[in-house]
Amino acid sequence: MSTALVILAAGKGTRMKSDLPKVVHPIAHAPMLVHAMRTGATLDPDRTIIVAGHGADLVAKAARDFDETVEIVLQDEQNGTADAVDQARDALSDFEGDVVVLYGDTPFLQPETLEKMLAARVNYDLVVLGFEAADPARYGRLVVKDGSLEKIVEFKDASDAERDLTLCNSGLIACDAKLLFELIAQVSDNNASGEYYLTDIVELARAGGHSATAVTCDESETLGVNSRADLATADAVFQNRARAELLENGVTLMDPDTVYLAFDTYIGRDTLVEPNVVFGPGVTVESGATLRAFSHLEGCHVSRGAIVGPYARLRPGAELSEDVRIGNFVEIKNAVIAEGAKVNHLSYIGDATIGAESNIGAGTITCNYDGVMKHQTTIGKGVFVGSNTMLVAPVTLGDESMTASGSVITKNVEDGALGISRAPMEIKPGWARKLFKVLRLKKSKQDKGQN
Ligand code: UD1
Ligand code: MG
Repeated sequence: MSTALVILAAGKGTRMKSDLPKVVHPIAHAPMLVHAMRTGATLDPDRTIIVAGHGADLVAKAARDFDETVEIVLQDEQNGTADAVDQARDALSDFEGDVVVLYGDTPFLQPETLEKMLAARVNYDLVVLGFEAADPARYGRLVVKDGSLEKIVEFKDASDAERDLTLCNSGLIACDAKLLFELIAQVSDNNASGEYYLTDIVELARAGGHSATAVTCDESETLGVNSRADLATADAVFQNRARAELLENGVTLMDPDTVYLAFDTYIGRDTLVEPNVVFGPGVTVESGATLRAFSHLEGCHVSRGAIVGPYARLRPGAELSEDVRIGNFVEIKNAVIAEGAKVNHLSYIGDATIGAESNIGAGTITCNYDGVMKHQTTIGKGVFVGSNTMLVAPVTLGDESMTASGSVITKNVEDGALGISRAPMEIKPGWARKLFKVLRLKKSKQDKGQN
């Protein structure tokens, strides 16, 4: 059976008080819409259609960045959820199979729930996802009789008895494409909001002799985002889930509540993550690594046995091979560090490669930027870079070469050579004592003058 996803994302999200359309606001570094798309993608749909309206260009970009095959259709005026789905009619005119309607602002739906909806389609023409609401508030109410769904009533249009129902509409539906568009064509805007309600298709389906049912999920899956407060709640929900998943998969989080994960963070089992480690997007960490406290990682890969931090920063393109050590106050950007190499203290390594077992001394800087362009630093195997070396790129240090600490290296150092570039040192016997005397005398004169 073919499946098409239709994801509604035309709404403005007025309560976000934002210049951005609501669905592109990020949760754990991915637009809210992408969370819905990721869950939808688990059904392996043949088509994915996004209904955009407010900020359509930004919505389209966010959607295509995740999946370049998505189709975008526009809803010029937000005339209701049925009208929104109707915008996909032309795009799906030749489509045969099921349409699953999702909301772009409902990021926590679980793949199992979508599977449940499609499984129910075997016996019912129309499947609606409902949930038992702790506080049903203004949700649409599902009217169920003998296991069949009779209709959905919107809160504004509901009688007192209907408002007492606690089984609520999540908004998600699954239905055969042809039937869905037939039903939508019959929906009117004759209701309290003057909108075309998608929810009306249930009553229309039943009147036409079709069957309908509700499957349910936990309320937490239907959490929608309407305000910045909801966005913060959504991030917290995401973090709690992602932390629990890591623990479940054999990752040690010393203080889970202080570790912040991105939507795509991957960490292998037996890796230890100390408190206050923050992950940006695009991080993969293999098994058996150690990420020490207060480190920040983004767009990087950490191999087995590597130790990072405390207080390290791995930026996009940082590739750490096995058993690498990256210590405190070290920043690595766009650099490949080979097995067993160490950058332990106070360094910046950018646009570089470091060979196996090399040791980079404290305070080493790759001077990779000349104010206009970036340049590459190549460091061979078994190299010893003395503390406070400035490597003015482009520059190469050959295998088993050395630099003297404090050097500014502007020329390539060949294999096995020592590069040294600093003023020769002089010793002036007795000068320190003399200098102390002069300075102390000066200070005591100053102090007297002040009294
Ligand atoms: C809808 C349901 C309600 C359900 C609730 C769950 C209808 C009529 N009501 O109400 O039964 O309990 O969701 O959250 O369907 N959208 C568009 N174009 C439009 C209108 C909406 O793209 O013209 C999108 C919105 O951006 C949003 C989604 O559809 O992602 C739902 O719209 P919203 O206005 O939030 O519907 P509710 O009034 O909450
Ligand atoms: Mg809503």
